[in-house]
Amino acid sequence: MENLILTSIENGVATLCLNRPDKLNALSRAMIYALAAAFEKVEEDKSVQAIVITGSGEKAFVAGADIAEFLSISKDEVLGLCAYVHDLFAQIENCTKPVIACINGFALGGGLELAMACHIRLASENAVLGLPETSLGIIPGYGGTQRLPAIVGKAKALEMILSAGKVNALEAKNMGLVSYVLPLADLHQKALALAQNMLKTDALARSEAIQAVNAHFDKHINGFQREIALFGECFGSDGFTQRVTAFLHKEK
Ligand code: COA
Repeated sequence: MENLILTSIENGVATLCLNRPDKLNALSRAMIYALAAAFEKVEEDKSVQAIVITGSGEKAFVAGADIAEFLSISKDEVLGLCAYVHDLFAQIENCTKPVIACINGFALGGGLELAMACHIRLASENAVLGLPETSLGIIPGYGGTQRLPAIVGKAKALEMILSAGKVNALEAKNMGLVSYVLPLADLHQKALALAQNMLKTDALARSEAIQAVNAHFDKHINGFQREIALFGECFGSDGFTQRVTAFLHKEK
């Protein structure tokens, strides 16, 4: 069977590359299950401290759910698949290691939904982002109706979803949908550099910070209370004691 996810690990940063370039890395069911297995592996790997997700080839990150599978799948099956992908994307969003989406081209439908589940997004200059599902008679089903408004605001999200509109990389940056736009050739290196910069901080503190920020977007959680609890988990930890002692001793 072809290797749908290519995994590489460099200096504590794992890169997962969705590898189906002839179909613009579309999320077939097989691709979704392969991504789930690969993500779980690097999430559990103690040598991995940050994760980059990207697409194979020079044209696409992920061009969406696999449209070729749409007409052969029953409604019950598709609802089950949506629930499965929701769980997978929630796992990515709640991962306690930083997860960076490296958008190297088209990020449409499920591709943009995957990128939005990541903590940080950067895009190549040729990237095109959008949720075109309404043009196919459906709505985004992998979290897009929830995460896009959280990132760009309700009006811009509805405009994009209702018109099936696509934005280029610079427009995406201006909307806050991606943080950086770079030439394609520099994109992965920038993602690795961003990750390495984060790895200078304390691993427990990074993990607790992700959980605290995510709490802001969870309607069932009081984010301020959660922040206090997570702060308490950091305070007195080994990393905290070592880092504060080093500071007080003027060590680097
Ligand atoms: N699902 C399945 N196959 C897809 C796909 C998808 N979402 N997106 C692209 N592909 C396939 C194409 O069918 C084509 O396969 P083929 O060579 O066997 O015919 C191949 O990937 C290349 O795509 P193509 O359309 O020829 O490239 P393009 O440069 O002309 O157009 C896009 C690129 C992204 C604009 C176009 O492929 C597209 O609109 N894709 C669908 C995007 C979408 O609606 N996603 C949301 C789904 S809910």
